[in-house]
Amino acid sequence: MKEIRPANKPLKGSISVPGDKSISHRSIMFGALAKGDTHITNFLMADDCLSTIDCFRKLGVSINVTKEMITVCGAGLHGLKEPAKTLYTGNSGTTTRLISGILSAQPFDCRLTGDESIEKRPMKRIMTPLSLMGADIKSERDNGCAPLIIHGKKLHGVDYISPVASAQVKSAVILAGLYADSRTTVTEPALSRNHTELMLKGFGADITSSRLTASINPGKELYACDISVPSDISSAAYFITAAMLVPGSELLIKNVGINPTRAGILKVYKEMNAYIELVDRRLSGGEETADILVRYSRDRLKGTTIEGDIIPALIDELPVIAIAAAFAEGRTVVKDAAELKVKESDRIKAVSEGLTSMGGDITATDDGFIINGSEELLGGSIKSFNDHRIAMSFAIAGLACKNPVLIDSTGCVNISYPEFFDTLSGL
Ligand code: S3P
Repeated sequence: MKEIRPANKPLKGSISVPGDKSISHRSIMFGALAKGDTHITNFLMADDCLSTIDCFRKLGVSINVTKEMITVCGAGLHGLKEPAKTLYTGNSGTTTRLISGILSAQPFDCRLTGDESIEKRPMKRIMTPLSLMGADIKSERDNGCAPLIIHGKKLHGVDYISPVASAQVKSAVILAGLYADSRTTVTEPALSRNHTELMLKGFGADITSSRLTASINPGKELYACDISVPSDISSAAYFITAAMLVPGSELLIKNVGINPTRAGILKVYKEMNAYIELVDRRLSGGEETADILVRYSRDRLKGTTIEGDIIPALIDELPVIAIAAAFAEGRTVVKDAAELKVKESDRIKAVSEGLTSMGGDITATDDGFIINGSEELLGGSIKSFNDHRIAMSFAIAGLACKNPVLIDSTGCVNISYPEFFDTLSGL
C-alpha cells in the first residue's frame, strides 16, 4: 500500500528517466544473435529486461552486466544452445512474443512461460503467423496462452497481413524471418513501433520497410553494435503529466526517445493545449531523441478525441493520458484501443475503476473510454491490478487530487521503472 499526497509545491528542475524498455529488450536479443560483442549503455535495469537477459543466458549467451554497461557476447545466428529448463519470461509480453519467433527456428525444443498475467495474455497472435511459416508452436493448455511448447523447425518465408497493429507480432515474424528459406513480409493495419526494423538494420540485416509493411531477406549474418539506449518516453510520460497538473511546475526531461511511432502522447498533449517543447532534437543510433520541456498547463487543458492510426503510437501511455483528461476541460474520447484489454491488466477496466473511485466521470467502452473532465478530483483508494502503468498513472493523479490517493500494491513499478517513487519524492 502506498499513499500519494497532493503536491504542495511545483515540480521543478531537470530529470532523467530510465532507458527505453522496447529498445533494451531488442538490444539483448539482437546482440545475442550477432557475431561479436555488443555494448549497451543506458540499458533499462528493470524486471522485464532482466527476464530477457535471463532467457538468453539460459540459451547459452554470455551477458556481462555492470552498472555502466551491458556486454552481450554474441553467439551468432546459429549459436544458441538448448536450455536445460523452461524459459521464464516473468511479466514481459515483449520477451515472450519476440523470443518465440527466434525459438521457432532453432534446432532444439523449448518450453516457455511467465507469471500469472503472461499466462492469460493472447499468444495466438504469434502462433498463427509462426505456424504459417512452418513453426511447431503449441499452447500447453490449449487455451492460446503460455506455457508455450516450441519444437524448432526449418521455416518458410511468408507474406503475413496482421489483423492487429502490434510490434510484438511484427517483430516475432521478422525474427523468425531471419531464419526462413525466403523473404518474409509483415503488413499491419496501422504502424506500430519500428525499433526492430531500425535496430536490425544497424546489426546488418537485410530489412526494409515501406509504410505499413516490413520485409526481411534471410541469410545475412548480424554483426555486433554499440547501442546507446534513449530514455523511455513511456516513463517520461508520468513526469510530463505530473508537471502539466501541478501548479507552477517546469520540468526538463533529458534525452528521451521521440521516435514518431512512440511519440503519440506529445501530439495529443499539444492538441489538449499543454505547454510542451522539444529542445535539442537529435538522432542517436537511428532513433530520434530530444529533451522535453513541460510547464504547468492544467488551467488550459482541453478534452480531445484519440482514435485511429495514432493509437499504437501511444497505447502504453493511455492510462496516464486518462489522468490528464480527467483534469481537462470538456470531454476526451478514446476509441480503437481494444488492445488495452490484453495488456499486463485489462487497462480499460483498471483505468475506469480507478478514476471512478477518485470521483472522476469515466465511461468504459468496448474499445476505450469517455472521460468528462472535472475541476477537482477527490482521491481515495485505487487498485493497481499489479500493473506497473496503472500504479504509476494513479500515483501521478495523487499529486493533483484534493485528498491523498492510496494504491494497494506498487511493487509492480519494478517491471519498467524501479526508481519511479524515488524520482517522484525527489521532485
Ligand atoms: C512493445 C509493443 C507494444 C507495447 C509493449 C512493448 C514492444 O505491445 O504495448 O509495451 O516492445 O514491442 P503490442 O505489440 O502488443 O502492441
